[in-house]
Amino acid sequence: MAVVVLGRPGVIAPARAVTARPRRAAAAPWPHRPDTPSEGTAMATPPHTGRNLSYFVMSASARADSWNTRLARLAASVIEERGGTAEVATIGDFDVPGYHGDHEASDGIPDGAERFRSRLLDHDAFVISSPEYNASVPGVLKNLIDWTSRFRPQPFNERLGLLMSASPSRTGGNRSLWALRVPLEALGARVHPDMFSLAQSATAFGEDGRLAHGTLQEQFEENVRGYMDLVEAIVRYPCAKKAWVEYLGQRPDPAFRRAE
Ligand SMILES: Cc1cc2nc3c(=O)[nH]c(=O)nc-3n(C[C@H](O)[C@H](O)[C@H](O)COP(=O)(O)O)c2cc1C
Repeated sequence: MAVVVLGRPGVIAPARAVTARPRRAAAAPWPHRPDTPSEGTAMATPPHTGRNLSYFVMSASARADSWNTRLARLAASVIEERGGTAEVATIGDFDVPGYHGDHEASDGIPDGAERFRSRLLDHDAFVISSPEYNASVPGVLKNLIDWTSRFRPQPFNERLGLLMSASPSRTGGNRSLWALRVPLEALGARVHPDMFSLAQSATAFGEDGRLAHGTLQEQFEENVRGYMDLVEAIVRYPCAKKAWVEYLGQRPDPAFRRAE
């Protein structure tokens, strides 16, 4: 994994992170929506009309002073500034016991997972801001994903997701995001290629809740905006959507589809 540490406080930028790329100065936004329609362009799309999509933004930490909850709130504010709507929650809103097959058979899937499923399906897309525990996904988050994956239809399939992390460490929790991609993608979620990891989170936030370092704040906004563009393209133009089915040598049959 290529890791690039940018200035203070550091962002760990994975190989495909938009934050690590040189800016494309002349690149036109896509889908193209001029902010100021020029005279004579009667058919021009008004600015941001396509952005009124809804996002479920979850911090995977229930801790009162969680850095990830701060980052989740910041993501929600960027979404709303750009014309979307955002519902912020923490994983504490979706408490579930440890997964147990016998308990599932006798009692069914717990309410916390049902609430989480509803949030996934009620919104156009989701964002998760997750801590890193021992270089991986926090167990509570993986456990919630496991329970929620037991519903049919399987609710992660074809849902659109953006991942971010925050940590007081210098790695920013980035390894947890690579680990988190695995179950989400295995379940058919479309996880945005660009991720954002905030290092040294204890000194990264200003009093207004934004990132104190102006360049980092810009990079964060760019990451969220890029995601919103893609969500808009996929939700508004479903012809861009591609179904993915893992083929393991079985004959094509819905019963064998990995995402189900
Ligand atoms: C069990 C445990 C393991 C941790 N492992 C890591 C780790 O591997 N990498 C890291 O950057 N921080 C690690 N931390 C520190 C967390 O990043 C830190 O507690 C952070 O504040 C948690 O996120 P939150 O503020 O959103 O609750 C760990 C913390 C705990 C409790």
